[in-house]
Amino acid sequence: QKLELQLEMLEKGGYDHFMLKEIYEQPRSVRDCLRGRIYPQQGKVQLGGIKEYVEKLKNVDRIIIVACGTSWHAGLVGEYLIEEYARVPVEVEYASEFRYRNPIITEKDLVIAISQSGETADTMAAIELAKEKGATIFGICNVVGASIPRLTHAGVYTHAGPEIGVASTKAFTAQVTALTLMAFYIAQQRGTITESKLIEYLTELNQIPTLIETALKANDHVKMIADKFKDATNCLFLGRGSSFPVALEGALKLKEISYIHAEGYPAAEMKHGPIALIDEDMPVVFIATKNSSYEKVISNIQEVRARGGHVIGIVSEGDTVVKEMADYVIEIPQTSEAFVPLLATIPLQLLSYHIAVMRGCNVDQPRNLAKSVTVE
Ligand code: G6P
Repeated sequence: QKLELQLEMLEKGGYDHFMLKEIYEQPRSVRDCLRGRIYPQQGKVQLGGIKEYVEKLKNVDRIIIVACGTSWHAGLVGEYLIEEYARVPVEVEYASEFRYRNPIITEKDLVIAISQSGETADTMAAIELAKEKGATIFGICNVVGASIPRLTHAGVYTHAGPEIGVASTKAFTAQVTALTLMAFYIAQQRGTITESKLIEYLTELNQIPTLIETALKANDHVKMIADKFKDATNCLFLGRGSSFPVALEGALKLKEISYIHAEGYPAAEMKHGPIALIDEDMPVVFIATKNSSYEKVISNIQEVRARGGHVIGIVSEGDTVVKEMADYVIEIPQTSEAFVPLLATIPLQLLSYHIAVMRGCNVDQPRNLAKSVTVE
């Protein structure tokens, strides 16, 4: 038994849980996802897995993303990125809803299925349906050779490595990285981005793994904050733009592993309902980085403060404005808006992790959840 315990410790690489190990692997997993795919000096993205579909990408007038769970959240980030840079309309669908809705799909459509495991039953059924209707299907998967990569016409592997923790962490950031690459790749093919802009973005993207390392340095500070909020019964996560799906993912992580009820909302929607819940017992996590919606998020923070809510702000390094208003802030390095999801996710993963551990929860195998859902 002692040997078994030692073996387990070894597998966890000295970390207490797989989840923490996988959170800390992210500088590496994101780097692995980028490897051989970006050429910052030339302003070029190369995606070998989909290169035979360049003509399709040039002419496509709609992209439909299908996924479940965390992968669906990655898809929402992808929607912002693809629409912003490649200027193609994107719809993001829960695979389970899509498959039973008699959706309108034609040969002209491109469907992107996102799945860590590559085995999710609903996502597979959605692919089969879209295929029958003649659409082109790309996959974004982590597990090499799984069912979904075999069902799709082409795809991009995330190369995050095996993920053991049931709550997805490094697979999510790798999916977002793959979607970022795809957005720039499609933009490059369609000529919706200039070479000089691509040089700028890809140079910055190349630095993201290092910036994730920096973001991870907040761990002790996040743990201290976790201790203050570990007894909460409800928690709200708010963000705007591509930080809205990050808020959804932050809330999902917390509810999955700590069993605290959590909701993610677009910050501006707060006044259409969730604001009614805010009182002294309600922690509200804001993603308030210095990007296009910064000022608007600040007014949302003021609204929460005015009602006695407790605010935790995920802010850009050196921010002083939110620091004045919030109970606590967690800093992440300053980046272009395109890359905020990759950094803002890190402290939210750590926050959920520490809260769950402090509550004595089984973080690697939360109750009622499975790593791969092969039944509908
Ligand atoms: C399960 C897992 C989630 C995952 C979802 C979709 O619910 O617990 O972590 O996001 O399935 O899985 P997939 O493998 O398709 O990404």
